[in-house]
Amino acid sequence: MRSTIEFNADWLFEGEHSVRLPHTAVELPFSYFDETIYQRAFTYQKRFTADPSWADNEVTLLFEGAMANAEVYLNGTQVAAHPDGYTPFEARLTGHLKDGENLIEVRIDGAENPAIPPFGGAIDYLTYAGIYRDVWLEVSAPIRIANVKIETPDVLAVTKQVSARVFLADPQGLKHDAHLTARLLDPQGNEIARHSQLVAGREGTVEFSGLDNIELWDVDNPALYALHLTIDTSAGKDELTTRFGFRTVSFTTEGFSLNGKPLKLRGLNRHQSFPYSGYAMGRAVQERDAEILKNELKLNMVRASHYPQSVHFLNRCDELGLLVFEEIPGWQHVGDEAWQAESIENVRRMITRDWNHPSIVIWGVRVNESGDYHDFYTETNRLAHELDSTRPTGGVRFITDSELLEDVYTMNDFFLGNEELGGNRPRTPLRPQQEVTGLDHLVPYMITEYCGHMYPTKSHDQEQRQAEHVLRHLQVLNAAYGDPQIAGAIGWCAFDYNTHKDFGSGDRICHHGVMDMFREPKFAAYVYASQCDPSDEVILKPVTFYARGERNIGGILPLIVLTNCDEVELRYGDYEPKRVGPDREIFPHLPNAPIVIDRRHISDEELGLWGMSWEDATITGFISGKKAAEVNFVANPVTTTLNVHPDSANIHQNTQVRVMVRALDQVGNKLPFFPEPVSIEVTGAGRLIGPNLVPLRAGSTGFWVQSTGPGTIEIKVTNTRLGTSKTTLAVS
Ligand code: GAL
Repeated sequence: MRSTIEFNADWLFEGEHSVRLPHTAVELPFSYFDETIYQRAFTYQKRFTADPSWADNEVTLLFEGAMANAEVYLNGTQVAAHPDGYTPFEARLTGHLKDGENLIEVRIDGAENPAIPPFGGAIDYLTYAGIYRDVWLEVSAPIRIANVKIETPDVLAVTKQVSARVFLADPQGLKHDAHLTARLLDPQGNEIARHSQLVAGREGTVEFSGLDNIELWDVDNPALYALHLTIDTSAGKDELTTRFGFRTVSFTTEGFSLNGKPLKLRGLNRHQSFPYSGYAMGRAVQERDAEILKNELKLNMVRASHYPQSVHFLNRCDELGLLVFEEIPGWQHVGDEAWQAESIENVRRMITRDWNHPSIVIWGVRVNESGDYHDFYTETNRLAHELDSTRPTGGVRFITDSELLEDVYTMNDFFLGNEELGGNRPRTPLRPQQEVTGLDHLVPYMITEYCGHMYPTKSHDQEQRQAEHVLRHLQVLNAAYGDPQIAGAIGWCAFDYNTHKDFGSGDRICHHGVMDMFREPKFAAYVYASQCDPSDEVILKPVTFYARGERNIGGILPLIVLTNCDEVELRYGDYEPKRVGPDREIFPHLPNAPIVIDRRHISDEELGLWGMSWEDATITGFISGKKAAEVNFVANPVTTTLNVHPDSANIHQNTQVRVMVRALDQVGNKLPFFPEPVSIEVTGAGRLIGPNLVPLRAGSTGFWVQSTGPGTIEIKVTNTRLGTSKTTLAVS
């Protein structure tokens, strides 16, 4: 049977020091750096000993992703080349291995190679150099299972079917027949069906039918089944286990449906980047991002903008029931014919890597926001449909009246700020579909970006700006919910991200996220979170830092409360408590409209007094008349606690974990304008990623710790006024 060996440890980087993958070639500062510093060539080398038992086997290195233009050499002989930085590739070592020690050398070039996507024009994101994903050494029989495509036809019928196309690799040209055994495993890992057959040639199809009691994969119940394949040939045995789900999706002029049930898509875009380490975050952190999107932001969809993302991220989306829009690399620019040919290959590589993920419901086969290229996009669509007839295609555009070659018109409708751009149309959260498409009929339609650069907002920006940021997200979401022809809306974007000098705030950051780069929520994050059902989580987030003079002229009105409670009560000093319900007049379509407290609820007389003597306040959320949540504010916040919170206190060896640091007042609220530095000390079985002296921004900062382990990691965070807070992580 094949053995898959992790090949991440002990790479010699630039001939200088030993590193572990995933690895970023240049660790960057948080902001204001020169983004060309990683745009050059780098070398990684690794020595390893060939095991005598590998003789007669296929030996392959699998690179999950390296940025970019990777060339792989074994003992000086080139064994692979892969320009694209976002898809996996293999280096076949068979036949080139020496007895004893061997040397693998990987040369990458972080320069933005204009010959391939996403390069050739300006792009609003960074493509950090490095072997930034896992590498595996795979030792298998000469004939092995190269891939499988699993489909679940007619999935809404009472009994279910599975059809799996199995692709064999036979690089030595042995041409032996293979005895294939396929076992279906239920979510608990129990075998529910088994089938054996002969495969002559390199491809075979296994069919199962009449399957009973199958659970559908759904956003609320993401039931994952697995197909376990073994082949037996006269050259040996091989096996592969692949997860999949029973589900069907459709986009029509009446919106999106999953398993025949309508579902309004509510999502945000995600870049796979992090402060300091760029793209180089391993499994735990990739998984954590999916958890943040699903469990904290309560989204049902994410767009993997603008390239295929880590399989660890996608696997977690499968497990969590988070739908994914995946797309080919690129940003506005389309190059010459050779460039387009490479982009077409990106379609093939993306789909053949990811066609079994139930979470992926649409393939983006246009370069993000590019113009119309009839022949090019006819081909990307044709290929996508040939490779996968079960999923629709989309192609993200921002131009109107563009040629629709895809199944779904996927539109970046950045329109809300029209007035600010000098337009004279009143605020329009989303344009009517036919105004955008220019077509005389309706088509399946989805919004793939909004907000973003129309209203960049930092987490420490003035409260009023943040309230406007919140309103804009609310207005677009409300409009999307209100229009049954819109499948859903995916905002720009989940997390702030580092970018080129031509974009963002000059600091090499696009402050477009509803969370900052550490994934700490801004107020706008709760626009999304508050749309969940209170049985999932009760959300109560008043959009205020609660200070007498933070807003222009002062006060905190109008006060937006993002909540899924059906009523809130504001208690301020000794005044009569005020009870206010959701603003369904302005936000009639949202599952949970915000509550807006303003002069309708507070008399002029009270208003006059308000602010004269600033007092403590309490906001209480009620559901069906019962108290469900409470937020307290103090009139005199003082620095009280330095809170240090790791995502998990128990971690594995060689993983990364995020630690958040927050400066809190006496009732546990963050001190949004406390800018003082904290120093970070990490000792024991781990090391700190990034600098050890950092400022707080909007009352918090974050960092990641890389475990080495096993053992314990001691983390000490010190601020001169708040003292030292400690936490310990156990590494197993
Ligand atoms: C879009 C683009 C995104 C991002 C966004 C900022 O035009 O597709 O990648 O740049 O603008 O709002």
